[in-house]
Amino acid sequence: MIVVTTTDQLDESLSSFRSEGCSIGFVPTMGALHQGHISLVKQCVADNEVSVVSIFVNPTQFNDKNDLIHYPRTLDADLTLLEPTGVTVVFAPGVEDVYPEEDTRRFDFGMLDKVMEGKHRPGHFNGVAQVVSRLFDLVKPYRAYFGEKDFQQVAIIRSMVQQLNLPVEIVAMPIVREADGLALSSRNARLAPSQRKLAVKISEALTKSRNFVGRSSVQDTVNWVVDQINANEGLQVEYFEIVDGNSLQSISEWQNADYAVGCITVFCGEIRLIDNITYFAKQ
Ligand code: PAF
Repeated sequence: MIVVTTTDQLDESLSSFRSEGCSIGFVPTMGALHQGHISLVKQCVADNEVSVVSIFVNPTQFNDKNDLIHYPRTLDADLTLLEPTGVTVVFAPGVEDVYPEEDTRRFDFGMLDKVMEGKHRPGHFNGVAQVVSRLFDLVKPYRAYFGEKDFQQVAIIRSMVQQLNLPVEIVAMPIVREADGLALSSRNARLAPSQRKLAVKISEALTKSRNFVGRSSVQDTVNWVVDQINANEGLQVEYFEIVDGNSLQSISEWQNADYAVGCITVFCGEIRLIDNITYFAKQ
């Protein structure tokens, strides 16, 4: 495993692989790695001749500067987790390498970023698109891997790849959960033990809500999930929407959708946790 920190070093580490025509797989991350990230890295290593993981806390995607300041930076622990995966190159650049000049691009994602995370975190997805397109430009991957926990992010990245006509296959990987169901997240490390116990109520409510499909209306299902979670002191739902998994727009009737996904964000104290559940995806 080679660790590089500049774009020149990245090019140097990949040049022989590129000239041999090796397939390059890529996992972009912001570090604070956990087994969810490692599942992406393992798949990337299995699918490609060369694999690159980037660790870069991207300032342009934080609409809340406080969140940026408190984002965990754990490079040594991250490298220890990555070492046994067989990843070829770890790219941990500074801001000046990723953005030698200010990135002023504005993406148009239509309705995709007008809902859920896009609505509650203005500018967030523009920043994600800026950094991911920039990293794709530097790494030039054949495939790139993203976790479905950030369900809306995957849709945004697919749209960006289409708009920029990039030759990258986007691979979405399932959510990895703790034994009790809590979706793995870098933010979980910030939960106090009492909050950690409460946080499991999110995945519990989502899983139970599966029984509502076709039996109760979409609106009753939404209300039930929100009430179940908000009934726990210390948990506050920011939004829960049941959406068409392709358009990300809310559905009002189960039978009108071929692909229904429930997407939720919950404040556990000050810590913002996200999760989602696929109710059905008809072929
Ligand atoms: O999902 C993340 O960790 C980030 O949004 C990403 C894709 C690495 C871009 O900074």
